[in-house]
Amino acid sequence: MIMTNHKAIIFDLDGVIVDTAKYHFIAWQEIARQLGINFTKMDNELLKGVSRVQSLEIILELGQKSLNQSEKDAILEAKNTHYLELISQMNKDEMLPGIKELLWDLKQSNIPFALGSASKNARRILEALNIADWFTAIVDGNDVSKAKPDPEVFLTAAKRLGKQPEHCIVVEDAQAGILAAKNAGMKAIGIGQPENLQQADMVLPDTKYLTINTFNEL
Ligand code: BG6
Ligand code: MG
Repeated sequence: MIMTNHKAIIFDLDGVIVDTAKYHFIAWQEIARQLGINFTKMDNELLKGVSRVQSLEIILELGQKSLNQSEKDAILEAKNTHYLELISQMNKDEMLPGIKELLWDLKQSNIPFALGSASKNARRILEALNIADWFTAIVDGNDVSKAKPDPEVFLTAAKRLGKQPEHCIVVEDAQAGILAAKNAGMKAIGIGQPENLQQADMVLPDTKYLTINTFNEL
């Protein structure tokens, strides 16, 4: 079944299109280790979808540590350098299961889609994957001032798509992202474990279950 209405899709990047969430985790875990802070995979859920600056604040709060601004700036730079090193070898094989086919199907069906990501590295990643020009709009961490769960990133994407928020469906792997979508008045599909994605309209355990027909079910 091909969708015939006027919906548009907004995709998160890390953990939805590409498997970079694991690299963010590795890079933050190294920073936490250097700071003597215990940082688990469960703690990492709090960082998903959250900006780089805010991620560091969360880690410092977990470790009950405070740093001055120049120390924070040095850590943010070190984290990003390590992260960029980790993703430098990334290629299209690291797209999450079924995503490339799904984006291709949407494109063939003239269903517009945008990126709505907190990452300042988003465009670089989409270009490395050779899919940047498939997107009608790319809204990333360089375009917005308020981080998810604020709806700014998705509302900006809807505007650039020329769609009303109620006609947009967001695909997200992060709690903060699902909340941002709901705060924007959009439908939200969560990818991951339901306990981490409680406000989602639908949760799928893996991107491989996401097809063009999924969007008709909302
Ligand atoms: C989000 C990730 O997509 O981007 C977060 O889920 C990350 O984990 C955030 O902190 C910012 O990314 P970057 O690439 O600008 O450090
Ligand atoms: Mg994500």
